[in-house]
Parts: sequence; structure tokens; C-alpha cells
Amino acid sequence: MTPAEEAIRAEIARRGPIPFADFMALALGHPGGGYYTAAAARPTRGGDFLTAPELHPVFGAALARQAEEAWERLGQPEPFTLLEYGAGAGTLALALLAGLRADASPLAGVLAYAPVELNAHRLAELRAGAGAADLPLLDPAALDAAPAAGIVVANEFLDALPAHVVEIHGGRPREVHVRTGCDGAFEEVPGELSGPAVAERLAALDAGGVELAEGQRLEVRPAVGAWAAEVGRRLAAGLVLVLDYGAPAAGLYGARRRAGTLMTYRGHVADGSSDAPYHDIGERDITAHVDTTALAAALAAAGLDLLGETSQAELLVGCGLEELLARRQAAVASVAEALELRSAVMRLLDPRHLGGFRAVLAGRGIAPDPPLRGLAFRTPGRR
Ligand SMILES: C[S@@+](CC[C@H](N)C(=O)[O-])C[C@H]1O[C@@H](n2cnc3c(N)ncnc32)[C@H](O)[C@@H]1O
Repeated sequence: MTPAEEAIRAEIARRGPIPFADFMALALGHPGGGYYTAAAARPTRGGDFLTAPELHPVFGAALARQAEEAWERLGQPEPFTLLEYGAGAGTLALALLAGLRADASPLAGVLAYAPVELNAHRLAELRAGAGAADLPLLDPAALDAAPAAGIVVANEFLDALPAHVVEIHGGRPREVHVRTGCDGAFEEVPGELSGPAVAERLAALDAGGVELAEGQRLEVRPAVGAWAAEVGRRLAAGLVLVLDYGAPAAGLYGARRRAGTLMTYRGHVADGSSDAPYHDIGERDITAHVDTTALAAALAAAGLDLLGETSQAELLVGCGLEELLARRQAAVASVAEALELRSAVMRLLDPRHLGGFRAVLAGRGIAPDPPLRGLAFRTPGRR
């Protein structure tokens, strides 16, 4: 039995059935034995899934241009802090810095890095990488007392925050709890809503015109509200850029997704079956889509101005991905390197792959007009 499973069993023995969100929080974040606290590198080719920063540094180089534009619009404040949530080993920050340097941007010389990362192994790698690249590090908690000008980035971070699973039974929302059955196996049982935050999210869906069907299963993630409030406290002026898989509420909870979006990953194999979270606990990623309507509301409630939502592909094209491709292609040293670059760009733009991710932009002190370059290619008719 893994340490995460042991901790979950102890928690159920103590409290009785626990909300799925508590199960997910322990499976992913149990100190030392959770999926995201263990030594193994997760979002890499050798891991369980591949994120855009780990796919190719051209992703960070494109985001560098968005950071540079935000910095220019704010009057080039010094220092300019990159506050990154779910920073991993700092791969995105280092690629962004390298992109700024390749563009000869003066922002490279005033960038400071405040990484938020649960995993001590990744943090040690990040510190070594930042040191080698001459990137000054800041303690993100220090920003609570002294908010900074900068850019906040969260790439595939919010989807890892605990999701509460709700099912509609007899016209009523019931929250999925997890217990151990007679044979010791985990089983799901519907129960009362675990708290007012879940009830409030459901009320917000109702107020937004989302109709939930009998038998429907869905996830809500009140933790996004607390995260947005923290970002609101830490950012004196600047840009918030959230990149993740998800959709506005109308699509996320609509007729096509009556079974919810909970998914697990292990060894690059996705498994959305209902019992998947209960296997290989602490060794398997558990995730659910991000509700970008709820995210936008949380950012607005935190006092940030919403600048827009677009797809990752549109964002990257706006940031000059094609020009970056051409420039890098001219400088590749081998056919293998050229192919790796081209295939990465294809995956980043493919709407069925990373290009279909959502990008939500908010800010403080940045006017919505003219739109930031990352929002310049938004498909007409979409938010
Ligand atoms: C899917 S990975 C994405 C990593 C990186 N942003 C990337 O795109 O490659 C999620 C990251 O968030 C971190 N993480 C998850 N929950 C966290 C939490 N509550 N606080 C800080 N970091 C967290 C994980 O350890 C992991 O590094």
C-alpha cells in the first residue's frame, strides 16, 4: 500500500466517508507520498503526461513576448516578478528568460522569479537551474506583505487542485464521498454537500443558466476562489495568465459532458473510468477540467480586471509562435532538432491537443484596449 493510500484509509477510519475532493487532495498532495510530492518527474516524456513547457522551450519563448508587452504597458517596472504556480522544475521560467534574452529584451535583466511549487525535489532542481541562469529567486510568500509588479503564470496548475464531485439524484445535488466497502476496496457513496463553498458554486451555475440533468456528474472546484484571492493580494500591477484544459461553464456542464471530466493519467495512458482514481493511489495523476467561467468570476472577485479568454493556439500565434519557428528553424543544428521543433509547434497549435487548451488573461493596471497580443487572434464570436 502506498503512503497516500494508507493516509486516505486512516482518514476514512477516523471520519467516515470523505468527500472525493479530500481523497484527491491526499492522493496528489500527501507529504512525501502523494502523486505530486514524490521524487518522480511527472510532466515529462518519461513521466505520465507531457506539458507544453516540457514539450519544447519555444512555448516559453512565445510567452516571453506576452510578458514583455505587459511590462512595456506598465512602464517597465523594476523588478518585474514572474510568480509561477505549479512551477515544477522551473522549465517554463527558464525558457521564458532564454526567450527574452534571444529577443535582446531589457526585461531579461530585471526579471525576478517567485515559484510556487509543492514538490521539494522539483524545487531543488529549480533553484539549481535558476542559479545557473542568473535568475534571482524570491519567496512567493513575501509578496503577501509586499505585492509586486509582474506576471502570474499558472500552466496546468488549477486542474490539479482538488475537485468536488457532484451527482444529481432525484433532482437534488449529492456530493460523491469515498468509503471503504466490506472487502476493503474503495467505493463511492452519495452524501450531503460538504460545505457552503460547493453549494455556492452550484448556485452560481444555476444563476448562470446552466441546467443540470438527472444522473449528471460534474466537478466544482471552490479552491480556485482562494487561489485567485491570493493572486489578487500578491500582484500590485501586471498580468495573470492561466493556461489549462477546460471550457466555459455552458460547455463544461452541457449535454456533451454528462459524465463529468474527471480523468487519470499514468505512463501517458489516460483513464476516465469511474474506478480509475482508486488504483495506484499516489502513483496516478487525477485531474478535472477547469471551469473558465468560475475562474473569470474568481479573478474579478479578487479585484483583477478580466482581459479576455482565448485558445492556447490563438494565444501562441498572437505571441509570434510562427516567427519564432522560422527563426529557430534557421538555426537548428540537425534534422532531428528541426523535426522536434516542427512537431512541437504542431502539437502546440493542434486544437485537439495543446492548442485547444484555454488561456484566461486578467490584469491590474493594464487597459483592455488595444487587446494584448495574445488576445489579438481570438476567434470572432468567442469570449
Ligand atoms: C501538471 S504539473 C504542471 C507543471 C508545470 N506548470 C508544467 O506545465 O510543466 C502541476 C504542478 O503543480 C504542482 N502542484 C500541484 N498542486 C500544488 C499546490 N497545491 N501547490 C503548489 N504546487 C502544486 C505539482 O507539483 C506540479 O509541479
